Amino acid sequence: MELVKQSKLLKVIIMSKGYERIKSCIDCIRKKTDFKPEVALVLGSGLGEYGNNLEIEAEINYKDLPDFPVSTVSGHEGKFLFAYIEKVPVVIMKGRVHYYEGYSMEDVVLPIRIMGLLGAEILILTNAAGGVNLSFKPGDFCVITDHISLAIPNPLRGENLTELGPRFPDMSNLYDRKLREEISKVGKELGIPLKEGVYMQCMGPSYETPAEIRALRNLGVDAVGMSTVCEAIAAGHMGMRVSGISCITNMAAGILEQPLNHEEVQEVANRVKKSFEKLITEIIKKTTEAK
Ligand code: HPA
Repeated sequence: MELVKQSKLLKVIIMSKGYERIKSCIDCIRKKTDFKPEVALVLGSGLGEYGNNLEIEAEINYKDLPDFPVSTVSGHEGKFLFAYIEKVPVVIMKGRVHYYEGYSMEDVVLPIRIMGLLGAEILILTNAAGGVNLSFKPGDFCVITDHISLAIPNPLRGENLTELGPRFPDMSNLYDRKLREEISKVGKELGIPLKEGVYMQCMGPSYETPAEIRALRNLGVDAVGMSTVCEAIAAGHMGMRVSGISCITNMAAGILEQPLNHEEVQEVANRVKKSFEKLITEIIKKTTEAK
């Protein structure tokens, strides 16, 4: 009996390897800043310039953190920015890493876990996505109501990091309803129309085929991309309140005659970035006021 108690105690004292890895990044960040974020923000493809006009308290390059994955995609810089937005302390991921770059899911969600452990209770995920719903058009913003993750491995596969959350976390309100209501109010106040829909993360890096997009539409998918879902799952696991906004940069494969390309994605994201920035700023203000 005593032995069982001792081994349980030992398990609590000895950190799991995955948790140790997160902690060593946190320790490294804490040597440079004691900034405590309330909100974490992930900037997607072509949306990275949001960070350029902020007053930055501190910034940390991903490459300066131990064993940290660094993005290889153009349009994705790699650093954490620590800044006050409307007086709210926010940690921003300027550039994310993607599963298609060859990293493990554990790598891809590491930054999310770090931002959660730094203190962020709310996570705002943004991305560029293809419109699957035929009523969407390039330049639209879509608030993610739910997701389908059938095409990618679950980031929680493997040993559960009990320090972060339970083995079998509930996902029924992953994209926090209250946050979505706030976002919808903000959209109305700013006169920025917002669509809502189900997002699916496909593996990439090739875009989907027209047959896949027809199948996804039948499954109930409204927008498709190559990120976000795994990050949302990891954040939900550790109890963060999650919201996601897609910038619809193109109609998904097969809907229009033209082929898809990354330049178009960046060009459309660039075209709408001013309203996107306004939207994000106001969302940060309103969702933290409402707390
Ligand atoms: N498919 C997948 N990812 C994307 C797309 C798309 O059509 N557009 C932007 N990211």
